[in-house]
Amino acid sequence: MTLWRGGRLATLAGDGGWGLIDDGALLVEGGRLRWVGPSADAPPADEVVELRGALVTPGLVDCHTHLVYGGSRADEFEQRLHGASYADIARAGGGIRSTVAATRAASEAQLLAAATKRARALMAEGVTTLEVKSGYGLDAATEARMLRVARGLQTLGVDVCTTYLAAHALPPEFNDADAYIDAVAAWLPGLHAQGLVDAVDAFCEHLAFSPAQVARLFDAAQRLGLPVKLHAEQLSDQGGAQLAARHRALSCDHLEYLSPAGVQALAAAGTVAVLLPGAFYALRETRLPPVQALREAGVPIALATDHNPGSSPTLSPLLMLNMACVLFRLTPEEALRGLTVNGARALGRADRGRLAAGQRADFCVWDLAHPRELAASFGHNPLITRVFQGNPGGI
Ligand code: NIG
Ligand code: FE
Repeated sequence: MTLWRGGRLATLAGDGGWGLIDDGALLVEGGRLRWVGPSADAPPADEVVELRGALVTPGLVDCHTHLVYGGSRADEFEQRLHGASYADIARAGGGIRSTVAATRAASEAQLLAAATKRARALMAEGVTTLEVKSGYGLDAATEARMLRVARGLQTLGVDVCTTYLAAHALPPEFNDADAYIDAVAAWLPGLHAQGLVDAVDAFCEHLAFSPAQVARLFDAAQRLGLPVKLHAEQLSDQGGAQLAARHRALSCDHLEYLSPAGVQALAAAGTVAVLLPGAFYALRETRLPPVQALREAGVPIALATDHNPGSSPTLSPLLMLNMACVLFRLTPEEALRGLTVNGARALGRADRGRLAAGQRADFCVWDLAHPRELAASFGHNPLITRVFQGNPGGI
């Protein structure tokens, strides 16, 4: 048993507020938090770590990434600076399809080496749980390779949730989206049987798949007992949120074009709204997600990096905290909840994201006096120690 004492804890333990404990302590045993409270009341322990007034938060949960891929799309960054839009580039066969070609050409070892560097960058800013989506293979073998590589990142000392996103784009060998959705649904049971799939996602957009096509895939997921998530209303309102809510989705992600009816559907289903300020920023979007309506409806809001080589090539969850406040007007507390407790909820993981007895002992120690400072600055990493399942270091 180890006692970490003398820190300022932002527990996020209640439904609102930071849950601050000014001179607080955490008792860790077997990778779990056994006790959390004021240092003065702490139970005895074999080992004591002095926090010397440092800030402690839950470990960060990055609930939406596309971390495993081959190649680079910096050329598209230049094309967009010359006036091409994300949609123009996709229609011309670039975008997701360009990463698909590079990912198919990469070996498992090459994909793992590249993804390891990216995961380490996220971990260096305090990430202890990471979601990784497939969706740059778009054939059974490459989707499986991506998911195996994602699972392999677990050995770095970060918990990895895998999401099957084969319904990301139409691959070049198909010209019928309905036939491709049938293939995506047919590959799923085999991948699931190998333990490679924690959830199923799709890209519901005029550039990608229709709500009716996504619904067929979601039915297949639900026959296997798998939860679903959706890239919804990123570039237009397709009614994806309502569709996802009908399937009790864990989350709907992006949501710049979410309608009032979509907000109500998410609220009624308990689906988390995952906001992705990195993609909004990089694509120079101007349409803001309806944050005030989400708040009023009581929809939990999460944040994530959406790391991918095209629309959100960032590896900084801390920058997302700042961007969510500056661009989307979240409060610093909402932003931190978005990268901890609500990010965990978007992955269906209730055992993390707060500092409370019984939770996983995943937490961060920061060289800061108050949690609002995490969101107020950018381009600076104040992490002192990342603790994963009770073990410090390894960043
Ligand atoms: O979350 N919106 C669709 N998928 C990704 C982008 C993927 C890509 O451009 O490679 C996203 O933004
Ligand atoms: Fe995404």
